[in-house]
Amino acid sequence: MTPASTQDILGADLSALAAAFHRDGYTEASCEEVQSLTRALGLPPPDVTLRAFKASPALRTHTALWALGLTVPERDLAPLLGGPLFERLVGLGLLHRGPEGVRAELSVIPSDGFLTTRDFDAVLTGKPAGDDYVLGIGPSTRRLAALMVPTPGGLTLDLGTGQGFLALSASQWSSRVIATDVNRRALSAAAFSVNISGRTNIEFREGSYFEPVGDLRGQCNLILCNPPFVIQPSGDRVCFTGTERGDRCIQHLVEEGPAYLAPGGWLSVLGNWTHTDEADWADTPMQWARGTGCDVWIIRRQSWSPRAYAQSWIDELTRNGASADRPPVLDEWLEYYESLGIRRITMGAVVMHRRAGENWARFDTLFSDSVGDAGPQVAQLFENQTALNDLTPDLVLQRALVPVRGLEIDLRHRFAEQGFAPASITLRNTVGFPMPLSVQLGALEVVRRLDGVRPLAEIAREIAAAHGGDASSLAPGIANLGLELLRLGHARLAG
Ligand SMILES: C[S@@+](CC[C@H](N)C(=O)[O-])C[C@H]1O[C@@H](n2cnc3c(N)ncnc32)[C@H](O)[C@@H]1O
Repeated sequence: MTPASTQDILGADLSALAAAFHRDGYTEASCEEVQSLTRALGLPPPDVTLRAFKASPALRTHTALWALGLTVPERDLAPLLGGPLFERLVGLGLLHRGPEGVRAELSVIPSDGFLTTRDFDAVLTGKPAGDDYVLGIGPSTRRLAALMVPTPGGLTLDLGTGQGFLALSASQWSSRVIATDVNRRALSAAAFSVNISGRTNIEFREGSYFEPVGDLRGQCNLILCNPPFVIQPSGDRVCFTGTERGDRCIQHLVEEGPAYLAPGGWLSVLGNWTHTDEADWADTPMQWARGTGCDVWIIRRQSWSPRAYAQSWIDELTRNGASADRPPVLDEWLEYYESLGIRRITMGAVVMHRRAGENWARFDTLFSDSVGDAGPQVAQLFENQTALNDLTPDLVLQRALVPVRGLEIDLRHRFAEQGFAPASITLRNTVGFPMPLSVQLGALEVVRRLDGVRPLAEIAREIAAAHGGDASSLAPGIANLGLELLRLGHARLAG
């Protein structure tokens, strides 16, 4: 069943729901406790988890209804919500009254300071996910949220908003967020979440990718999209695979998205794309991004053979019950890849920044996820990469550098005959992507002197004077270190 329209949901006064959750202790922590309990009990039916969950009657009722998808007695729930709110939720199709009691149309889970919604996990309901299934916040949602460059006061476009988490996150600093989806049920779920999370600057539009936002050409400061990127033969689950063949969805976003960016705007999309051998993993998105007026950072997380890719997604889709009614067949997937000439599939992200002038492109393989919010790091990397276009080793020696916040020096000592001696030094970011850089022991003397005031050439002279050496022989190494620190975003140019 599809709940009421976004307009009706956004227009309703549902503020008492957040208050009831707060009063009764239905929080992120209580939901995590239930999740741990479910795992510890070996994913039993939800009523078994509920029996083992020790909490007040009110918290048990919220947990049963909103987290576990169970039917609860109306006489338990109505007093917790209050009559008017209860009736409003029923009227909006978000609660259903039946002879057995009341059940919720959507799960509501407190997360990251918001009240987020989603369809109940197929593992809980025992029913296969329908074509309009609304996914919860998953690892890919978090990956894209971490890549988001904050554009305070700007206009953010979240394409394929699903449960709306990215729109909610961006609404904290955007003046206006427009969230779209082809799935009307997802839009209603996101609107429910936006309403009960108390956000007022998010609007919804229904339609495919840029179709409903033609009026926003050249105006967006940030465009986000975590599209349905699984490359599989039967693309009919809109939340996982979309309805397009192969990697068309990300191609579409990279080719068309830049026209919707304001000057200086950012576009971040996740996706899976196909290519022919291991070495050419960046070629496909690079072809799409060429000539779009943007600097481009193509990030690879992992590349797969078609067989490994197919098996991993078939396992995932089967595990979460997404394809219980139409089990995927490995051979069909492999034939499909064969028919399209696909030899490798890469999972990654493309970040684009609209900038006048000569644009650059850069490719990195980042196997690990970012540690927390990588947005400021992404912005710094782009700024540095643009500066690097004009920086030679000689020029960088004339510049002062400042280490970025969160840069860590990891100095390891190893025991040898003379006692412990420094064995390796790695510089890495502790906020964002680590971007590890192994350096020689001497580099420490340089990094510790970076203060945004002394140019690298002066630092070379100081070190030479301290050790009785020759600054001109140190300079090339220090210049290369400076360029590498900038390239990896470990430092920025002062002034
Ligand atoms: C992988 S989910 C991502 C949801 C959410 N943004 C997140 O990050 O968790 C993909 C979403 O894209 C939507 N979608 C699929 N095809 C679309 C299209 N052609 N245009 C817009 N949205 C689409 C799906 O309905 C689904 O909500």
